Amino acid sequence: LFQFIYSVCLNKVCFPPAEWCYRKQNRDDSCKDPSRWAVQFPRCGGLRQSPINIITQKVQVERSLPLFDFFGHTETVNITVKNKGHSAHFILPQSVSLAGGGLSGHYRAAQFHFHWGGSGRPGSEHTIDGERFPMELHIVHIKEPYDSLAEAEHDTAGIALLAFLFEETADDHPHLDTIIAALGRVPNNGSSTVILDFRLRDIIPAARDLHSYYRYVGSMTTPGCEQAVAWTVFHTMLSISSQQLSAIVEQCRFWTGQPMRDLYRPTQPLDGRVVYSSKSATAQKRANHVWLGALSVLLCCCLKMLIKGLHKNFTVK
Ligand SMILES: *[C@@H]1O[C@H](CO)[C@@H](O)[C@H](O)[C@H]1NC(C)=O
Ligand SMILES: *[C@@H]1O[C@H](CO)[C@@H](O)[C@H](O)[C@H]1NC(C)=O
Ligand SMILES: [Zn+2]
Repeated sequence: LFQFIYSVCLNKVCFPPAEWCYRKQNRDDSCKDPSRWAVQFPRCGGLRQSPINIITQKVQVERSLPLFDFFGHTETVNITVKNKGHSAHFILPQSVSLAGGGLSGHYRAAQFHFHWGGSGRPGSEHTIDGERFPMELHIVHIKEPYDSLAEAEHDTAGIALLAFLFEETADDHPHLDTIIAALGRVPNNGSSTVILDFRLRDIIPAARDLHSYYRYVGSMTTPGCEQAVAWTVFHTMLSISSQQLSAIVEQCRFWTGQPMRDLYRPTQPLDGRVVYSSKSATAQKRANHVWLGALSVLLCCCLKMLIKGLHKNFTVK
């Protein structure tokens, strides 16, 4: 009997580990905020963690970063949406997949989810030159032939995560309303619903329009923080109106019962990693510089002519 009780205790019934959370959600100490994730999930204290702040001056151009090939993005599918207690997951069928993008092999989609802030606070996980954006979309893909995160986690590129940042616009994103309505149907941990006739293409652009992106090696941004992720953060931002944003942050609750807000992990140290940028990302920047340069030369000429003209007028009189 004693042995039985002892083994039950070892199985964490007597001492259940505190669940993790994004910030202290109760007056008591019942959940672990990001600064304490590593106590229970040691990999969260690793040297290749995500998200990060991307410093655009320090990114390194990598000419071998080509376009992606997306499969199944224009298919119409029924998808299940589930409140997982920390965020809501939109489960994608395995017919949605990707290749290319400088990754070797084929990656099957598993799910997508969003990170957001609350009441006007931005809530993206990645920041660019210190700027946080209103919301971030993550599309999680697992490399073939792995079937789960557990299998993929021993491969440093076992997971391909696509990240899109959102910018606030005056007009509604025309296809986010079905997403927002679905979130309204999964208010509590464990609740689920279905979105009929969903197309990923309605949410994100076609692969041919996504040539500019950042790439770095990192981790999952929730415990256990598995360091198995090839991250792609696209330059192209998705749009969302302030009305849509406030609708999104008001509908769900965390497993604690608190409103599901500010669900993002603080940025993590780079620890010597390099962030790469696809060629066209920098080509565009250079094009802007050339254009600005040309513009200033033109302005200079105009000014000179103007001054000359004024001078002439002046001397004639
Ligand atoms: C989606 O669900 C509807 C209603 O249950 C069904 O009629 C339709 O065939 C399903 N579509 C797919 C692609 O499974
Ligand atoms: C959320 O609900 C699921 C059941 O759907 C349960 O297994 C899980 O422990 C819950 N999560 C938390 C953090 O309470
Ligand atoms: Zn995420």
